[in-house]
Amino acid sequence: MIFVTGGAGYIGSHICVELLNAGYDVTVFDNFSNSSPEALVRVQQITGRNLQVIRGDCRDRDALITALQQSQTNAVIHFAGLKAVGESVSKPLNYYDHNVVGTLRLLEAMQVCHIRTIVFSSSATVYGDPVHLPITEDHPLSPTNPYGRSKWMIEEILRDVYRSDPSIRICILRYFNPVGAHDSGLIGEDPQGIPNNLVPFIAQVAVGRRERLNIWGNDYPTPDRTGVRDYIHVVDLAIGHLQALAVLKNIDHERNDQSFGCMTVNLGTGQGHSVLDVIHAYEKACGHSIPYQMAPRRSGDIAVCYADPQFAYKILGWKAQLSLEAMCRDSWRWQSRNPNGYQK
Ligand code: NAD
Ligand code: UD1
Repeated sequence: MIFVTGGAGYIGSHICVELLNAGYDVTVFDNFSNSSPEALVRVQQITGRNLQVIRGDCRDRDALITALQQSQTNAVIHFAGLKAVGESVSKPLNYYDHNVVGTLRLLEAMQVCHIRTIVFSSSATVYGDPVHLPITEDHPLSPTNPYGRSKWMIEEILRDVYRSDPSIRICILRYFNPVGAHDSGLIGEDPQGIPNNLVPFIAQVAVGRRERLNIWGNDYPTPDRTGVRDYIHVVDLAIGHLQALAVLKNIDHERNDQSFGCMTVNLGTGQGHSVLDVIHAYEKACGHSIPYQMAPRRSGDIAVCYADPQFAYKILGWKAQLSLEAMCRDSWRWQSRNPNGYQK
């Protein structure tokens, strides 16, 4: 049984599909603060399998203990947390509470229940402004906002937990820019309010919910002067988690191989795409133009960021397969069939 905190969210729901398709049993633990139970109904519709859903908050250790015991969990994938960079600057305590305290309570509950395997959602944001490209896992860590620092603190906590007990199995996955949706068009990203991220914003312009996109900065030192990122299809990302679980499980069988007991791995494609590249790919996917205007740089943004994905291949045997075209096609299928997200 795999226990998925935050499993109703954008990335978590896609992982649940892949887990169920691969034959795992799944329990989702989510407080639905940024998601809808409908996402999990759709996960079950896609896979034809049931999952167990527990409404609860990761800061509640007793609720976690009860849920872990009831579900007879073998491993945890921890997505639950808050993720809006701007909001983290105005509400830092909230971010440290949900993200750092939530993870502490989860680790304590796992200890009580003797569960020793965890995959954690970190972010490329822990690297801060890149000092070299592509970004390897040993790149210096220098997060620039409370959200990024909460991820960095959790990583440090996990490394300390591993040092205290090397029989624990930990995989820290640093995601680059997850986009796209499951190709059924039934689940996808459903941001509350005005989207902060590029692809959900473009999707809402494409479907007519917003008038035009602001391109934050056209004076970057990049080929077309707009920001460059490593966009990764959310289904590729989901498969990376399955590979991580498989590798952690195998390490469990070889108890004396401790070198990989706490792995930190980039999940990206290794390819950079500019804002204009994404707009053009989306225009092709939706069949009409996306109105946009140039606007000043967004504070805190960097020019270029993309992963070195070689370690992921070496250690997990995982490589992203899906193109920017597939990311935009699948995002558009989800958005055009669900113009208001999970809201009917
Ligand atoms: P999301 O907001 O869609 O999903 C997070 C889920 O966690 C939601 O279902 C929410 O209701 C739940 N949740 C939040 N706080 C909780 C708490 N205290 N207790 C229980 N449930 C709680 O976000 P996502 O995009 O699916 O991201 C999942 C994880 O991946 C997050 O930890 C995020 O920081 C990380 N991440 C996301 C991105 C991205 O671009 N989406 C990039 C890097 C890392
Ligand atoms: C943002 C977060 C980062 C997080 C990542 C997850 C910030 C500063 N950083 O990164 O911590 O890990 O999301 O996906 O918020 N853009 C526009 N117009 C828009 C939106 C975005 O031009 O309306 C541009 C941005 O300037 C950037 C690119 O699109 O060049 C991607 O932006 P976004 O999707 O927000 O991701 P990141 O900035 O990489």
